[in-house]
Amino acid sequence: METLANEKLSILFGRRSIRAFKPGPISDGEIKTLLEAAMAAPSAAAKDPWRFVVIRNTTTLNRVADILTHGQMLRTATCGMLVCGDQAAAHDQLVSYLLQDCSAAIENLLLAVHALGLGACWLGVHPREDRMQALARLFNLPSGVLPVSMIAIGHPAEHKEARTRFHASSVHYETWGGKP
Ligand SMILES: Cc1cc2nc3c(=O)[nH]c(=O)nc-3n(C[C@H](O)[C@H](O)[C@H](O)COP(=O)(O)O)c2cc1C
Repeated sequence: METLANEKLSILFGRRSIRAFKPGPISDGEIKTLLEAAMAAPSAAAKDPWRFVVIRNTTTLNRVADILTHGQMLRTATCGMLVCGDQAAAHDQLVSYLLQDCSAAIENLLLAVHALGLGACWLGVHPREDRMQALARLFNLPSGVLPVSMIAIGHPAEHKEARTRFHASSVHYETWGGKP
């Protein structure tokens, strides 16, 4: 079977960044499901340093869009989730573990969004100091809680085809430069 047509992996290959949204509700139950999916991700030493701010207020979403110039779809999103990491909770208090844990949670979140028929786009925050400072101020984050990424979530107003960006040249076998 061709990989992209593998039904068991269709959620994974079908997940795409959605940047056009139409109006529509997202229920409290759906939000809970998304958070449960995010918090099912692997985490170094199971420290689970991820923290989430769920944003439904459209004024706040617009203020975030003022900060994130590449996040204008937030203006029409139903919901935003600011994914943060608590450095004190991270494995050995290392920021690198915090970032890896939060990234794993985000990918789970994006896959769950797609599985529920919703759409999402990952918006980079860390390591851009200006974005981090502005969001920390807007959301009143305690010191040591780092804003990592913003996720725009809504009802998709665009369709994108499933795909992989597989490149054989990105893979080495047994040793660097090794062929299959
Ligand atoms: C760390 C990170 C930051 C990103 N920041 C943005 C962003 O600010 N705005 C945006 O539209 N997409 C952003 N993206 C989404 C990427 O552009 C997108 O994942 C990539 O083009 C691949 O497309 P796909 O998600 O449809 O597979 C970001 C993705 C990652 C992983």
